[in-house]
Amino acid sequence: MSAVTAVGPDNPGFGVYVHWPFCAAKCPYCDFNSHVRHLGVDQPRFAAAFVQEIATTAARAPGREVTSIFLGGGTPSLMEPATVGAILDAIGRHWTVAADAEVTMEANPSSVEAERFRGYRAAGVNRVSLGVQALNDTDLRFLGRLHNVAEARRAIELARATFPRLSFDLIYARPNQRPDAWAAELTEALSLAADHLSLYQLTIEEGTPFFALARAGKLAIPDDDAAADLYAVTQDVTAAAGLPAYEISNHAMPGAESRHNLTYWRYGEYAGIGPGAHGRLKLADGRHATATEKVPEAWLDKVEMWGDGVVVDDVLAREEEADELLLMGLRLAEGIDLARYRALAGRSLDEARLADLLANGMVERLGGSRVRATRAGFFVLDAVVADLAA
Ligand SMILES: C[S@@+](CC[C@H](N)C(=O)[O-])C[C@H]1O[C@@H](n2cnc3c(N)ncnc32)[C@H](O)[C@@H]1O
Ligand code: SF4
Repeated sequence: MSAVTAVGPDNPGFGVYVHWPFCAAKCPYCDFNSHVRHLGVDQPRFAAAFVQEIATTAARAPGREVTSIFLGGGTPSLMEPATVGAILDAIGRHWTVAADAEVTMEANPSSVEAERFRGYRAAGVNRVSLGVQALNDTDLRFLGRLHNVAEARRAIELARATFPRLSFDLIYARPNQRPDAWAAELTEALSLAADHLSLYQLTIEEGTPFFALARAGKLAIPDDDAAADLYAVTQDVTAAAGLPAYEISNHAMPGAESRHNLTYWRYGEYAGIGPGAHGRLKLADGRHATATEKVPEAWLDKVEMWGDGVVVDDVLAREEEADELLLMGLRLAEGIDLARYRALAGRSLDEARLADLLANGMVERLGGSRVRATRAGFFVLDAVVADLAA
């Protein structure tokens, strides 16, 4: 461990993302790299492979000070505490971990998983992100979740008692969801929340059961106007409660933002460990975009044979880096630094396009050198980024 590190917009930090690719059941809306293995998972074998891939990655990118670790999934709370301990110990052996490093774990709120919370805390986890998704049982069933509201409430309570920091996720813009019902649910969520909430609009991902239902006209998802109303409710209710959006889907009291996710959005450096994990490593020849094999058992074979499961390792051109900076940074309420964009791209943003977006109220200037999306711009962010990046 080292002394406390000053991470901020000018020093985005170094994060380590670790992907646990298994779930107890597949939710019908989810296209994350998550797999169900009814015959069980050989955790000691996976733990050894995670440790190996951490060692290999640290040999490529040595000497970093880790400012955050994120155990994501899939469902990382299906890991035994010993598996989590092995992963965190390996990160500490191969890199220096900052004394105030944020160590987050995603957890599902079923009672079985909540029983393991103390073990995760003892292993070094200091922040939990719970996938609550909804606060009514009808919608939880519709979303294919294995927990009910009572279990979610118990998991929130237990997590608050066990970990220094807690966040939970909700999915909104569900079929037939009315703004007043969402406002009431959100108000209840805020009464249960600590200082951070992730609020995701339901997206219909290709290849999922929800995609097939939507195509068959059997899913009454809100149209653009209704979704805009739900989005406005989300912004208003959270801001009034002191947890404004600091990112398009993330809300926190000032100071309680997820440092790991800020590292992504501020376009810092991060290692991706585990099946289907992405990384951005700053090496001698430039910024590398890395990705590992997605299929868990194929990843395992690769790591055991070669030391890592990397299948993509591209050095990004300056233009690509600058586009990624836009894509990530414009998600943030703090926006992007135009001087940093200039330094990466080797040119300024297109003045005419920027002027258009400013005039249309899609982006605004923030101080001398920063630009950010407005509320209207956030709602059509993909189009705003495409316009500026083109
Ligand atoms: C990868 S999941 C991991 C968390 C954990 N497995 C769970 O589901 O509770 C992270 C979050 O992404 C969100 N999510 C996943 N698919 C989504 C979709 N199609 N639309 C909106 N949010 C989604 C959910 O809120 C979920 O909690
Ligand atoms: S939403 Fe979470 S629990 Fe459901 S399949 Fe995706 S990763 Fe697994």
